[in-house]
Amino acid sequence: MQIDVLSLFPEMFSGFLSSSIVARAIDKEAIDVKLTDFRSFSTNKHRKVDDYAYGGFAGLVLQAQPIWDALEALLEQGPAPVIYFTPQGRKLSQSILEHYAKLPRVILLCGHYKELDQRVRDMAVSDEISLGDYVLSGGELAGMVFIDGVARLQEDVLSDVQSAVSDSFSDGKDGLGFPCYTRPEEWMGVKVPKELTSGDHAQIEAWAQSQARSLTHTRRANEIQPKLKGPMRLGSKS
Ligand code: ADE
Repeated sequence: MQIDVLSLFPEMFSGFLSSSIVARAIDKEAIDVKLTDFRSFSTNKHRKVDDYAYGGFAGLVLQAQPIWDALEALLEQGPAPVIYFTPQGRKLSQSILEHYAKLPRVILLCGHYKELDQRVRDMAVSDEISLGDYVLSGGELAGMVFIDGVARLQEDVLSDVQSAVSDSFSDGKDGLGFPCYTRPEEWMGVKVPKELTSGDHAQIEAWAQSQARSLTHTRRANEIQPKLKGPMRLGSKS
């Protein structure tokens, strides 16, 4: 899968691309990430890429020209969906990642500080994606979330052991995963749920399903957020 990223801050991606599963996906040639600074396409003599908003609204707006030219250069190499990250987009989900992970190529467009001129959004963007209802300084973090999400879905990127971990939303599930435990069986006086050490596979499966169901209900079904715990202190159990 080829992933082209257009950003004013390509350096934000360097640690991310050289770590963990994403680095492995690149190493295995499951994904190929190319970073382009669209400032280099600006025809302005000062390489300016933004200007005041028509209508007198506060803030600057990214201009259409550098983004259009950068996209044109990328699309000359072949067709690809262009995904723009913005709080105004549809919310990213596992099924959106699964859809894009199957494609040979995508172009990710990351704005920064501000929105893009609507005309380039209308003419050149095929999908708009948001991480959630909050505002970040730019689309770069969303781009990284997207790359991580599609990289781990590529064949042979995750080892069997990694992919066996009870992923939320995977394998057609539309809910959250269940709580996981590892050794020791008792820690700080708290034991692993007895079902997990029963050796009875049907009981274990039923426990996992019921935990996942109730977690999904409390955290997702009604938008009421669960009560947060107070500050954690070493030495306390709650
Ligand atoms: N850019 C700024 N805020 C964002 C968000 N919440 N999701 C995606 N891109 C963004």
